[in-house]
Amino acid sequence: MTAHSDQPEPMTFTPAPPLSGHAAVPGDKSISHRSLMLSALAVGESRVEGLLEGEDVLATAAAMRAMGADIERDADGIWHVHGVGVGGLLQPQTALDMGNSGTSTRLLMGLVASHAITATFTGDASLSKRPMARVTEPLSRMGASFTASPGDRLPLTMRGACPAVPLDYRLPVASAQVKSAILLAGLNAPGITRIVEPVPTRDHSERMLKGFGAELEVAVEGDGTRIITLTGEAELKPQSIIVPGDPSSAAFPMVAALLVPGSRVTIANVGLNTTRAGLIDLLREMGGDIVVENPREVGGEPVGDLLVTASALKGVEPDPARAPSMIDEYPVAFVAAALAEGRSIFRGLEELRVKESDRIATMAAGLRAIGVAVEELEDGIVIEGSGGAPLAGGGPVATKLDHRIAMSFAVAGLVSRDGVTIDDMRPVATSFPGFTALLRSLGALP
Ligand code: S3P
Repeated sequence: MTAHSDQPEPMTFTPAPPLSGHAAVPGDKSISHRSLMLSALAVGESRVEGLLEGEDVLATAAAMRAMGADIERDADGIWHVHGVGVGGLLQPQTALDMGNSGTSTRLLMGLVASHAITATFTGDASLSKRPMARVTEPLSRMGASFTASPGDRLPLTMRGACPAVPLDYRLPVASAQVKSAILLAGLNAPGITRIVEPVPTRDHSERMLKGFGAELEVAVEGDGTRIITLTGEAELKPQSIIVPGDPSSAAFPMVAALLVPGSRVTIANVGLNTTRAGLIDLLREMGGDIVVENPREVGGEPVGDLLVTASALKGVEPDPARAPSMIDEYPVAFVAAALAEGRSIFRGLEELRVKESDRIATMAAGLRAIGVAVEELEDGIVIEGSGGAPLAGGGPVATKLDHRIAMSFAVAGLVSRDGVTIDDMRPVATSFPGFTALLRSLGALP
């Protein structure tokens, strides 16, 4: 999946005038992946509106086509998926190229695990460094077998089992990808698959599986532990899905509007599922003025418009328990902390080391390069805020094939003295095509 050019595309983000106006962010990446996968397993035609047309989701579409689904986009931007039915996936004829997308890889491994097919997964340099044992271990218990590169990494070939063995599993890491891989495998396993989730993670798979007609129950215990039970050999019914705007993409214009003095921006149609909305809570605790307008429900998910007004922020020491609800938003939260009054201490973030890049190390190095005093911890970072004074700027900042690192430093450039140069903007296309156009529409770029 390398739709973009072979050469890095550097870009410099310079001090911005106040941001103003209305913006809409692209569709939610997690929900977009799941829309294609579940539609491909339903019998009949599903319709998906607002699908994120980023490279990661297109990698999922290509893989589902390679396994037999018929997926088309019409002239109005609506996606139509003719599913093959649970158990009906076909043997792909070539390796599945997952590009940069960990979500595609891990969830599709779950799907393959309970079908009698063999599939090879490949990915880019970033994805090929990411650990896969977290999914190969439970999926092996369900009967799948794997030949992986050293360290349980891609390229990896797996053979699914049919029938697969339903699993009773306590998640050892707080990971929606691992949970979802097991649930997707469980769809075609005879009997009950049960997952114990001690720390809640994004629940789009559970909501959508129910919406597609699977028998799935979630029980919440007194201490917050969630027990998810899924009855296998499910029959999924085709759906008409509207994908809400991605809160993880909204994070960038939201932080930019808080940081650039005098800004006032509305970001429309943002998903506000509580398992995703941790950044809004954190920014409010820091003093950020964020108002939710028109709260409503879209496609089974809470959604609202965010009115964001520039605010003086203060440092924070967030509770690590909130990490899953803002796991992808830490890089841009670190930029907010760099402009806050006082010190921020982030801990309990070891999962950030195995994202598209090691996000603790990449952010620490980049922030230092643009004049921020930081201390890297094993499980987090300490950031000394500027109290609202512009960051020095500089670069080029190394983004390590990580879209969220690139967009975070783009935001930092808007509140710098000398501008911030990003070494390569190409990865932004994985999750947020139109990122720079959106900043331009708000007046942040010349
Ligand atoms: C995702 C889950 C999270 C998140 C990723 C998308 C998903 O990963 O970081 O961007 O769609 O399930 P983990 O499950 O590894 O925490």
